[in-house]
Amino acid sequence: MVDASYKPYGLEPVETASRDEIAALQTQRLAWSLRHAYDNVEAYRKKFDAAGVTPSDFKHLEDIAKFPFTTKADLRENYPFGMFAVPQDRIVRIHASSGTTGKPTVVGYTQTDIDNWSHLMARSIRASGGRPGMKVHVAYGYGLFTGGLGAHYGAERLGCAVIPVSGGMTERQVQLICDFKPDIIMVTPSYMLAILDEFKAKGIDARETSLSIGIFGAEPWTNQMRTEIEDAFAMDAVDIYGLSEVMGPGVANECVETKDGLHIWEDHFYPEVIDPETGKVLPDGEKGELVFTSLTKEAFPVIRYRTRDLTRLLPGTARTHRRMEKVTGRSDDMMIIRGVNVFPTQIEELLLRCEGLSPHYLIELMREDRLDVATVFVEARPELHGAAARDAEAAALAAHIRNNVGIGVKVIVGDPGSVERSVGKARRVIDKRPKQ
Ligand code: DLL
Repeated sequence: MVDASYKPYGLEPVETASRDEIAALQTQRLAWSLRHAYDNVEAYRKKFDAAGVTPSDFKHLEDIAKFPFTTKADLRENYPFGMFAVPQDRIVRIHASSGTTGKPTVVGYTQTDIDNWSHLMARSIRASGGRPGMKVHVAYGYGLFTGGLGAHYGAERLGCAVIPVSGGMTERQVQLICDFKPDIIMVTPSYMLAILDEFKAKGIDARETSLSIGIFGAEPWTNQMRTEIEDAFAMDAVDIYGLSEVMGPGVANECVETKDGLHIWEDHFYPEVIDPETGKVLPDGEKGELVFTSLTKEAFPVIRYRTRDLTRLLPGTARTHRRMEKVTGRSDDMMIIRGVNVFPTQIEELLLRCEGLSPHYLIELMREDRLDVATVFVEARPELHGAAARDAEAAALAAHIRNNVGIGVKVIVGDPGSVERSVGKARRVIDKRPKQ
């Protein structure tokens, strides 16, 4: 774990540039990006024209609010390559994000885009405490998902030795960690818990491994989960954020010395937070939907892309770039249970207060007699013995949820291993309610 003598290493000048310098760079790059999108992507041209704006209407950063938003629906309508802004022969990589419904979103990269992405991933790994010469175990999935290859190129760029394991085959993950002795692991936090279970099953103390840094993202996770993982592995657990449409992992990353939210790499992405209902731009500090405009992307520029992720913008600390608070969830992950808005992370936070329960959970929603019924499936820790102890834990969690979230839920405490495990992003909610 980092101690008080920790010094960030080899920062790029832009990571500590003044706010005026950052604003000047963003203004110049935004003007380019708006022009590039307008001139080269018919869908952007049509949207700008319909809104009565042209790239020359952008003079100051605030002018970005005049431009129309882009949504996932826009990307789907132009499936697969309609939003690309360069000729096909300049594309060197294609990724796609699998939606829960409909067609995937397809994104493309030029060689310059891949170089920028690798660079920002290297910066993110370094912000997490990574250094050249370290070994990095990558357990994000390799493939169309941006996690594996994004982490891979970034770690190589930083000068690390990459162990490209991908997700799955949990026993082998444990074996490789024990044998290859990596310093860093990059994986979804939920899959890290499955790896932890495997260490326990093998009777190996996870605190004794060589791992000292975990770079976790691709799904929401709480500070309570951070403590759980840090204690279990004796490591620093750092948050990484990104999305395929905007680049992939490495759009924002926490700094290990502060662990106080994720610095958005503002030299490449311009963030805004908006009211998701009205679309109005909110001042920094207010919570809403995160929106990004790319500043340097060639193949797949995005203009005011609505992420659906809920967070707020905060001033820089360890770097001058603004931070985003840990994402609590996506607007489309929000469950409305008997009229109350609930995010899975709220349940996670309360679950981790129950010492007899492990951090795995799944929420099932049903409708009985026209009423919503929520059941939270959790697991007893192996050291919790007897039906009475399980009942007491179930009652305690249900009471925490009633008192803090304001809904009554049924809690079922199963055996260790009874809740479905993920090898990538965890599924937290099964909604079996009839569609209205
Ligand atoms: O999940 C990219 C990624 C890979 C990020 C590895 C970090 C690590 P997508 O599959 O397009 O890309 O999913 C993007 O995942 O809009 C968020 O809802 C969620 N997400 C990503 N990182 C975090 C995070 C990758 N640190 C979507 N905390 C985003 C919360 C996250 N949610």
